[in-house]
Amino acid sequence: MRKPLIAGNWKMNLLYSKVPSYVEVLTKELQALHWTQATSGVLLAVPSPFLGLARELASKQGFSVAAQTIHEKSEGAFTGEISVNMLKDLGVDWTLVGHSERRQYYNETNESVALKSKAALEHGVTPVICIGETRAEREANQTHEVLRKQLAPVLTALKGSDAYVLAYEPVWAIGTGLTASDEQAQEAHAFIRSLLRAESPALAEKVRILYGGSVKSSNIKGLMAQPDIDGALVGGASLDPTEFAKIVAFSR
Ligand code: 13P
Repeated sequence: MRKPLIAGNWKMNLLYSKVPSYVEVLTKELQALHWTQATSGVLLAVPSPFLGLARELASKQGFSVAAQTIHEKSEGAFTGEISVNMLKDLGVDWTLVGHSERRQYYNETNESVALKSKAALEHGVTPVICIGETRAEREANQTHEVLRKQLAPVLTALKGSDAYVLAYEPVWAIGTGLTASDEQAQEAHAFIRSLLRAESPALAEKVRILYGGSVKSSNIKGLMAQPDIDGALVGGASLDPTEFAKIVAFSR
């Protein structure tokens, strides 16, 4: 059984000064909804300046904290970037990699995503590796081809490891209010799992595949009822801790 993982991606939102009240409200709401660490994992992907504080507060409540991206090198002259060494030094054990916004605005490629994922794993940081097609690609019936191309270098770079998480985030569903239907999401997840199975059946059993794209408390149950959906990567709806707590609680 794969334990559900619900991740909130704050993107470039909220403020450092709001982190304590966010964690407090999330904790209270989850208690009221009878959430326990045994039922699902909670992960908060916060902006870099919040990482230390967020980790300190969140870890006391059994939540994990992730960076939103990392550089593939451990150190060097890369102004503005953060390395996986820095995450480890802060006690941060997770990072998102290859979010579609990083691919779109910061030219991350399938190859650089693979390098970043490998760097994370080599330092004991779990990457949540994001893949997903654009609307034009879906309309041109290229979804499987795109997913296969995005995943291939990652699977090669991470061969021998199963300590990572994948996130299927169709670009057309991100921030648009257009969620993939339960069936569309399941179909894509099953395809992604078949790519893992081609590597090894054990890998396919172990690796969690999260769905992302306009997830809310009103649609999480249907998504989580699908056999190949193991959790969610939530953007906008994670900014309100009360709504995010409902998403976590309804994911069981
Ligand atoms: P929304 O939930 O706002 O659509 O964002 C999804 C996302 O990009 C999470 O990483």
